[in-house]
Amino acid sequence: MDKLNNINNTLRLKANEHNSILTAANILKKGGVVALPTETVYGLAANGFCEAAIARIFKAKKRPNNNPLILHVKNKEQALSLLDIDCKLTLDRFKKLSQKFWPGPLTIIAKAQQKIPKIATGGLDTAAVRIPDCKESLRVLNELDFPLVMPSANVSTRPSPTSMKHVLLTMDHRIDAVLDGGHCRIGVESSVIRIDCKNITLLRPGSIGKDELEKCLNEEVIQAKNNETQLPISPGCSYLHYSPKVKSARMINVDEAKKYWFEKHSIIITNSEFDKLKEQFGNRDNSALTIVLSDDPINFGQHLYGALYKSEEKINNDLLIILPRIMDSRWNAIIDRLNRACSHNF
Ligand code: TXA
Ligand code: MG
Repeated sequence: MDKLNNINNTLRLKANEHNSILTAANILKKGGVVALPTETVYGLAANGFCEAAIARIFKAKKRPNNNPLILHVKNKEQALSLLDIDCKLTLDRFKKLSQKFWPGPLTIIAKAQQKIPKIATGGLDTAAVRIPDCKESLRVLNELDFPLVMPSANVSTRPSPTSMKHVLLTMDHRIDAVLDGGHCRIGVESSVIRIDCKNITLLRPGSIGKDELEKCLNEEVIQAKNNETQLPISPGCSYLHYSPKVKSARMINVDEAKKYWFEKHSIIITNSEFDKLKEQFGNRDNSALTIVLSDDPINFGQHLYGALYKSEEKINNDLLIILPRIMDSRWNAIIDRLNRACSHNF
């Protein structure tokens, strides 16, 4: 467990077996690294109070040191024990958000307690916390008296994993174990919100939208713009991310899609746009990869990263993501991830 690059075998554990939960907890107590399911994506867990264990995560993920990690906790008390909230307004905001959205896909950032190792916060004076809405992860957390740092369980720059298979694609032999909890229910990472006495800022869109957050708080939430999410506000938003290993990845509209229908390009497309194009032009070539996802953004989000990993089956081809004609704010998190998945060509 201590020689990260010498891990011969990543232990496969089944989340529905109590012994597996205990084994995962024991590995974590000894400073190991275990991939755990959550409702959003799989996370790479380690003891949030142990610098050496956290360092293993950075190494396994090849993650830049200044990109901070989310501390996952079992209850609100544990979350509050990690934060240094010194004004009533911030505390009220924390209470409203945690009451409404926890356990769930919302990460709250506020001033950090000194006891949190700097390696976890990437040197920032704030900390990110959330309670995952996933019984398997909560069972593991309940066996522990420390929080778990849990970045997504993928090597940096690659799409986040939403099944054990995805975790093993980039993490096999790099981590001690993976707890198989099946496919993640949401499939897109948590919304990340920062609160202090002045502002409430949505740093990363997720399945909980700005409108829902504003309704809960009865206050304005500022949406961080891309150029505001550079260092040091939310380091993870400024890196190359979520990128499938294909020749190039690009988002296009349906009109543009027509000219590629008979090309070898891989495409990701929604059901009804696919039906319309197929009706107009007929079948695509069998050898071209066509991944059809739901028209519903919730379902689309669930299968987004799976589709990006699938596109890697045609590593030498260009990937085109054909956006539906009509998209409402429920697509925001998906478009955010796709923008970054497409920002780089291998
Ligand atoms: O749904 C999720 O949030 C998943 C699951 C496993 O819980 N975790 C996840 O972690 O997505 P990660 O490390 O891949 O993304 C965490 C994001 C990064 O963009 C990071 O920069 C940001 O949260 N973050 C963490 N702490 C921060 C802080 N103190 N200030 C600003 N941004 C922070
Ligand atoms: Mg990530």
